[in-house]
Amino acid sequence: MAIPRAFASFFFFLFLASPLCTMANNLIYSGGTLKSGESLKAGDYEFIMDEDCSLALFHKETQEWNSGTDRLGLNCYLSFDSYANLTIYDGDNLLLFRIGLDLDKGQYVLILQETGRLAKARGIIKQLEEII
Ligand SMILES: *[C@@H]1O[C@H](CO)[C@@H](O)[C@H](O)[C@H]1NC(C)=O
Repeated sequence: MAIPRAFASFFFFLFLASPLCTMANNLIYSGGTLKSGESLKAGDYEFIMDEDCSLALFHKETQEWNSGTDRLGLNCYLSFDSYANLTIYDGDNLLLFRIGLDLDKGQYVLILQETGRLAKARGIIKQLEEII
């Protein structure tokens, strides 16, 4: 018996949609944070707020980028705010690092892509703008 077309396209839809549904670990919405030890993951890449206070991008075991804030504080966390600033604060909320894009206040999403590029998008994910 042939699979009804509508049924097949439903599965095709699920297949397309599933990266979005399971994406919880490769994105942060504005207002979100990555706490010390937390990371975004996509493919072989990991963007981690390391426990040593550095924010780093790893490709497998190789570190490709870091914020240069290692050992500057304890319990550091990354904040992605409603101006799309990427900011590292220490456990006492002292600002240690910022990548700001001078954008308007809004709803943003920060996404680690499978290519290892970090991008942000405004509102619904239509157009990604790469940051790192
Ligand atoms: C975030 O960016 C906005 C716009 O550029 C700026 O006004 C605001 O002070 C920034 N916040 C931090 C914590 O740097």
